[in-house]
Amino acid sequence: MCGIVGYVGYRNLESVLLVGLERLSYRGYDSSGIAIISDGELSYWKTPGKIHELEKLLQNMSIQGHVGIGHTRWSTHGEPNEVNAHPQINAPHKIAIVHNGIIENYQSLKSKLLSEGFLFRSQTDSEVIVHLIARYLQDNLLEAVERAMLDLEGTYAFAVIAEKEPDKVIVAKKGSPLIIGIGKNENFISSDLNAVIPHTKDVIYMDDMDIAIVESQAVLFKKLGGAYIEKEIHHITWDATSADKNGYDHYMLKEIFEQPTIIRNIISKTIDGDHIKFDSLRMSNEELIKTTRFIIQACGTSWHAGLVAKYLMERYARVLTEVDISSEFRYRQMITGINDIVVAISQSGETADTLACIREAKSKFFKVLSFVNVQGSTIDRESDGIIYTNSGPEVGVASTKNYVAQLVTLYLFTLYLSHLKWSISSNDLVTMISELKRIPDYIDQILEQKESIRAIADKYYQHREFLFIGRGLNYPSALEGALKLKEISYIHATGYAAGELKHGPIALIDEHLPVVCIAPQSPTYDKMISNIQEVRARKGKTIVIATEGDHSIEEFADDIIRIPHVSEELTPILTVIPMQLLSYYIAVKLDCDVDQPRNLAKSVTVE
Ligand code: F6R
Repeated sequence: MCGIVGYVGYRNLESVLLVGLERLSYRGYDSSGIAIISDGELSYWKTPGKIHELEKLLQNMSIQGHVGIGHTRWSTHGEPNEVNAHPQINAPHKIAIVHNGIIENYQSLKSKLLSEGFLFRSQTDSEVIVHLIARYLQDNLLEAVERAMLDLEGTYAFAVIAEKEPDKVIVAKKGSPLIIGIGKNENFISSDLNAVIPHTKDVIYMDDMDIAIVESQAVLFKKLGGAYIEKEIHHITWDATSADKNGYDHYMLKEIFEQPTIIRNIISKTIDGDHIKFDSLRMSNEELIKTTRFIIQACGTSWHAGLVAKYLMERYARVLTEVDISSEFRYRQMITGINDIVVAISQSGETADTLACIREAKSKFFKVLSFVNVQGSTIDRESDGIIYTNSGPEVGVASTKNYVAQLVTLYLFTLYLSHLKWSISSNDLVTMISELKRIPDYIDQILEQKESIRAIADKYYQHREFLFIGRGLNYPSALEGALKLKEISYIHATGYAAGELKHGPIALIDEHLPVVCIAPQSPTYDKMISNIQEVRARKGKTIVIATEGDHSIEEFADDIIRIPHVSEELTPILTVIPMQLLSYYIAVKLDCDVDQPRNLAKSVTVE
């Protein structure tokens, strides 16, 4: 959450900072600002609102300079306004900082600094950092930063510039991500890859307690209170253009339509003839075979993917699989087994709760296997084993393509493990792989129904409440459908296991409630039909997702969306597609900000 950029070099400073902020705006977008040093003088501009408000503010200025930092904010402490926006400034010492994270002891630090005469203007926790640095600044900025870090508790990635040392940006990290992009006679700072990849593919990931002194000709790294260190340069293969809209109205729509291609890519990377391979796995087959329990933990949409994986792993690999929400998992007393593996699922690889869980798990000597999209992210680097979900940069705040990529990758992992354990035969494996290969074409067929799904959205968009129901593997799909709708349209939506309907939620049903019923052909199909009838009997409106050729279901459906026939285990990959489109068109009809819904941020790096 919150995006940090920084630049030292000879390009147009304003444009590097603004383009960087624009590319990080999915991390938070309630206010933004930049600070620069030009001819030895510090200047800064900041404003509430999205990045284009900052662009407007800077429109007629001619900003010169070679050193600058910028920030796009997702508020934690203090409402989004100009004063609370970053950079935070210490005016007497002409120092500016941008910060991502939460300073947990800021109240006590603030009281102390106030008693010493420091003036606070904002309600942010971040402001203590800049005053602490000012407090310690005598001859050397680095020394002041190090002394300030010793006082700080909590998490941070921050970048600081000061008139006293006008040619550099000093950055420090503890708990929040920070990346240095290495250029020729220029260097970049960013809280994630997206702001760096248009300029350079060579990056250095900072670790906790690392400090970097970034100048145009060099970047020096050291540990807090320790010696200077060498850091490895990683070469990134991500393409900058994959984070553009490519003519679509919104990133979310573009990402929904990218899904068939992404699955084709995953299949071609992972399947070699009749074999499945995970190049990055970093775990031996022996370790996987002897696993007696997988404990999956994840948040939000990634948690839904984990729920689907539980069904798959238990059904095919015959391994006990638990699934927990990361923020809950951390606080229960885990019973550890010597052959347990903790599995983390995360698009960003930076989600604070998920990361905290893997650290907790490792401290208890669990092995950690993670399914991550963003290569080089903290979860990637801290896990014992890794499998990439390979969906490319996902920019829309509501996760779509990466969810589907997670489902496909978890399915492939299940097949891989099941075959290792001989719980499925080679023939089964071949059949299952060949069915998976047809999925991208099936998704194309669903996407062709976009106009009829848009018509359903037009019919129901004014309802203030929706229910989503499904069974078995499609119970998580119901949760995911409801989450998509509520996060981008602000309509209250609940996902339920259809069998639970009569244990409470049925009380909600009347002629005003649309119920999305996920009813593909499956062993629980008849039970699902009974649940749909229960809805109809109470005059609820049914939007049914059903298999092509299933005509008997039509009499129970006010509206119907078709998916091609596939084996039950693959249905969640298809049933989610119409729900993504339905949510998208409802949100567009309501004139909501689809790609940047209020209060949300793409990567949740605070607990
Ligand atoms: C919903 C959504 C969130 C994320 C959750 C976990 O559309 O995007 O619920 O799934 O914040 O994020 P990652 O997967 O990055 O750990």
